[in-house]
Amino acid sequence: MTITCTVASQPIGKVKADLVAVPVFAKRVLGPGAGEVDRALGGALARFMNKAGFEGKPGETLMVPVAGMGAKTALLVGVGARDEVSAATLRRAGASIARRATSAASVATTVASAASASVAPEAAAYALAEGTALGAYQYLAFKTKGEPTKLRRVMLVGDGGSGGGKAVTAALARARVVTDAVAWARDIVNEPSLTKSPADFAASAKRLLAGKGVTVTVLTESQIRAQKMGGVIGVGQGSERPPRFVKVVYAPPGGKARGTLALVGKGVTFDTGGISIKPADGMEAMKTDMGGAAAALGAMSTLEALGVRHRVVSYTPMVENMPSGNAIRPGDVLRMRDGQTVEVLNTDAEGRLILADELAWAVDEKPDAIVDLATLTGACVVALGEKVAGLMGNDDSWSAQVQAAADRAGEPMWHLPLPDDYRKNLESEVADLRNISNNRYGGALTAGLFLEAFVDDRPWVHLDIAGPARASADDGELARGGTGFGVRTLVELARTFEPPQPKKSRTKKSGTKKKPTTTKAARR
Ligand code: BES
Ligand code: MN
Ligand code: ZN
Repeated sequence: MTITCTVASQPIGKVKADLVAVPVFAKRVLGPGAGEVDRALGGALARFMNKAGFEGKPGETLMVPVAGMGAKTALLVGVGARDEVSAATLRRAGASIARRATSAASVATTVASAASASVAPEAAAYALAEGTALGAYQYLAFKTKGEPTKLRRVMLVGDGGSGGGKAVTAALARARVVTDAVAWARDIVNEPSLTKSPADFAASAKRLLAGKGVTVTVLTESQIRAQKMGGVIGVGQGSERPPRFVKVVYAPPGGKARGTLALVGKGVTFDTGGISIKPADGMEAMKTDMGGAAAALGAMSTLEALGVRHRVVSYTPMVENMPSGNAIRPGDVLRMRDGQTVEVLNTDAEGRLILADELAWAVDEKPDAIVDLATLTGACVVALGEKVAGLMGNDDSWSAQVQAAADRAGEPMWHLPLPDDYRKNLESEVADLRNISNNRYGGALTAGLFLEAFVDDRPWVHLDIAGPARASADDGELARGGTGFGVRTLVELARTFEPPQPKKSRTKKSGTKKKPTTTKAARR
């Protein structure tokens, strides 16, 4: 159900489509093209809106029949106050159109022109195209009686369309690449774990990335062991289905990379909790515990098509966290890839164990900056809710760069601290670290602090996406289930990457204060 967005050369009254979608501002102020709809209704539009209680608020829609236009039906799309229309409004409007237009194969729309005062034509076209593709997403793989949307084609009319020329066409192509990657991530997150073993996930990643200008390496269990990834082996050993590790390298053509960006993603294909087993209620959601890896891999699939000029390397461990006679137990100690030892006091805090190995591997290869994405803690969902990711890091300028990319991409994130004071909560009696805090509060932060112990002071950002990786209801550009959260931010980050200042010349600031040297002394 991919949707093709094009630029229409005809005006909204003439263009042939199953549906025309026009914007209406707050207080029922008609936007571009809505006047034609009013004329086609013989001036009855105000009465229609009134009767239906349609006010022009963002996300509101109203279907009206029309005569004498190229389409038989018009869709009014609320976009809110005229001077507040942003790219985010257009993305949301696009999603509303796609959700309402499920029985129309083609839609012609002037909605992208609603922001002509504040958003450049190509940015408007991008946002609208992205919104329609995201809003049209459905997961019907197991619905034998599902009703797939008929929507296939969206035609942009007006200055969000023809006015922008080449830049608009390029923006539409870019939106298509990105939304295809998001759709892949959503599909694989939604896939039930029965058919999503670590090997299945790795195979799916290989299929996605074939012909995408990247090098893919898949490590099997024995190769993972040979790499001393004690975290991945430990977490994976309770499952009948052995772990995989997928490394993907994108090098820009011509060998002229400006810096290397490393992406690390948590790929737990199902998280039962292991021996520290989770309650039955809601456990099904843990099929989505690989959303971080899905986002990283989805982003990797876009880099060549988008002409990214930096090296980007992704590291995604894939494991199933199961209880069994072979599973790790509370009290066991694992030796991670960088030599640090971890006392496992709760086998359900498994994400950080596999990420520790991947972060250590990434660090070995000396990237300029690292971002990890992980559905890591329920505590982060308690703190920030289901829609906002927690952002933590050891370098304020790198954190700001990631936050800015997320803002542009329209994925909400909030900066959380890594307080020095909480580091001691991770001290173990028998090993270098324990995998859970000895204090019940601030679980998102202590998870972040645990990861920080493996990044060796390299510029690093941790995104806890436990909330936004999944949506509990259709809403705007999100569809119930896997959201593909993170793909858009990572793509934007890869496109605009500025390697942070190297260590020596930068003034080190972390979420709070300077890091004590004592944690370091315990290493290796
Ligand atoms: N995958 C979970 C985190 C999670 C919770 C993701 C809810 C999405 C929604 C993670 O592996 C986990 O189990 N974390 C524990 C950590 C605890 C044992 C310290 C948690 O958050 O309860
Ligand atoms: Mn867990
Ligand atoms: Zn987990």
